[in-house]
Amino acid sequence: MMSDIETVEKIIYKYLPTAKGYQQNVIYAMNYAFSAGGKRLRPRFMKLCHDMFTDVSDIYDESVIGPFMAAIEMIHTSSLIHDDLPALDNDDLRRGKPTVHVKFGEDIAILAGDGLLNYAFETAAKAFLIRPKDEGIEKAFTVLCKKAGIYGMLGGQSKDVVMSGKKLSLDELNYIYINKTSALIESSMMVGAYIAKADDETVLKLEEAARAVGMAFQVQDDILDIVGNEDVIGKPVHSDEKNEKYTYATIYGIEASKKYVEEMSKKAEDIINSIEVKNDDAKKELCELIKTLIDRDK
Ligand code: IPE
Ligand code: IPE
Ligand code: MG
Ligand code: MG
Ligand code: MG
Repeated sequence: MMSDIETVEKIIYKYLPTAKGYQQNVIYAMNYAFSAGGKRLRPRFMKLCHDMFTDVSDIYDESVIGPFMAAIEMIHTSSLIHDDLPALDNDDLRRGKPTVHVKFGEDIAILAGDGLLNYAFETAAKAFLIRPKDEGIEKAFTVLCKKAGIYGMLGGQSKDVVMSGKKLSLDELNYIYINKTSALIESSMMVGAYIAKADDETVLKLEEAARAVGMAFQVQDDILDIVGNEDVIGKPVHSDEKNEKYTYATIYGIEASKKYVEEMSKKAEDIINSIEVKNDDAKKELCELIKTLIDRDK
């Protein structure tokens, strides 16, 4: 398989910083969070979208997509460290282990989140040394930066935290989901395609597909917060209830939410199937991966 967890982890682990020097405490905490496990979905999506537009007869060059795969997982992990902090969701379990602030203290957890976010861009920038002035890499880097920030994940998180305990309009709910969750999935798919030199029109279609995947993914996450098993999901259940979050699942109910997850996943699949690619096996694997997320239990 092009995108199984083992294959992807082998690539992304290469880019972790070494815990040495006076700053080793923060690096140690960064690596703890990164290496704790997880589904590695974002680098898996990225690799599949890269491989989809790569000719199978070409020599496979991992040196450019590798840093970007590591970078998206660092950005995602940094968002998890900060999301779990006492000031945000105040959760003490993540990926089956004590959260970073529980293990290392809140001060180091704040810095480890910042450290991972910044190191993500340091890591992705290594691609410029390998292929200077490459237009695909420039576009990929721009997308990676934007989708992590105030016009992406961070924007969604900022609206999410102020809406704790408050009823949301559908417009606000959609804004939060599209940004806190879809943005990094959009980034994953778009970056992969840009690095493989896909054109803008194609990448826009992938962005739309990824947006639907992200919506489905967050609604399934909300469902698991209610009916999931803590040992399986590796994080506390009923976190949303504790924080008085109105979610798609609490507003519309489990059944309607399950239907929504299916519909959004189907929408994504249809868009992806309408795209012409160089490697049909990668496209098939991407659609399969999206399908497995519909009734995931973790
Ligand atoms: C959790 O993401 C945060 C959400 C956007 C719902 P994942 O469910 O992908 O977390 P890991 O990486 O598998 O731990
Ligand atoms: C947060 O959503 C998404 C992020 C950007 C981290 P949640 O708060 O629902 O994520 P979990 O359930 O803690 O993983
Ligand atoms: Mg949260
Ligand atoms: Mg949370
Ligand atoms: Mg959640």
